[in-house]
Amino acid sequence: MSAPALSIEQLVGGYVVGVDILRGIDLRVNPCEIVTIIGPNGAGKSTLVKAAFGLAKVRTGRVLLDGDDVTGCRPNELVRRGIGYVPQRQNVFPTLSVRDNLMIGGITRTELIAERTERMFEVFPRLKEREKQAAGTLSGGERQMVAFARALMPRPSVLLLDEPSAGLAPRIVGEVFEIIQRVRDEANVSVLLVEQNARRALAISDRGYVLDQGMTAYEGTGTELLADPKVGELYLGGA
Ligand SMILES: Nc1ncnc2c1ncn2[C@@H]1O[C@H](COP(=O)(O)OP(=O)(O)OP(=O)(O)O)[C@@H](O)[C@H]1O
Ligand SMILES: [Mg+2]
Repeated sequence: MSAPALSIEQLVGGYVVGVDILRGIDLRVNPCEIVTIIGPNGAGKSTLVKAAFGLAKVRTGRVLLDGDDVTGCRPNELVRRGIGYVPQRQNVFPTLSVRDNLMIGGITRTELIAERTERMFEVFPRLKEREKQAAGTLSGGERQMVAFARALMPRPSVLLLDEPSAGLAPRIVGEVFEIIQRVRDEANVSVLLVEQNARRALAISDRGYVLDQGMTAYEGTGTELLADPKVGELYLGGA
């Protein structure tokens, strides 16, 4: 069996010395899986994704990318090695055009920029129509497309998405989940997704983890977690 695309082993860490937000997390994303992390506010979901992307401190434990230890690598190095990250907030350059946002996303692979930009416009035709428009003037859903496309520019093998549907109208939320599935299928990328829209996210996920107070409370396939009465009661807002 091939190594997981991303694997997190016994991870302990956080932001400041003496305060461990993550208290021993094990998690894996197999090639081309969509894996969702759910859990209450402040559970450490964003911190976990940031630790995988070199933005939060790993005190002990390891982060492996396709079997290679990348613990403690900086974000630019991780992008080069195949991780894409779409943060929870401020994930586009609002004053720059759609095209310039994409080009910045490709900066680590300058030889690919022209080809990848056109590819992203094929995947997201709506962005092609708006390529000269400033990203900050787009609708919420379109801005999220720019953020995805920017992260996909260097052709990552793993995509980390922190609450991509936050603040979007319900109709657009469905569209974002469809895009995530399409990106997984077409770009052959493994996706680690953090979501508040937990039911809808688990419904498109191969597997999921419930994070609570920096620890894994539950894990299973998307279907198992959706069917688990305890998970439903505690983390999915009841039946
Ligand atoms: N930059 C930071 N410096 C210090 N502490 C932080 C920092 N960012 C987050 N924290 C703390 O880490 C804990 C976990 O935060 P985190 O953002 O990972 O939670 P979350 O599960 O993503 O929550 P939410 O659902 O609200 O996005 C919180 O107690 C938070 O206050
Ligand atoms: Mg968060």
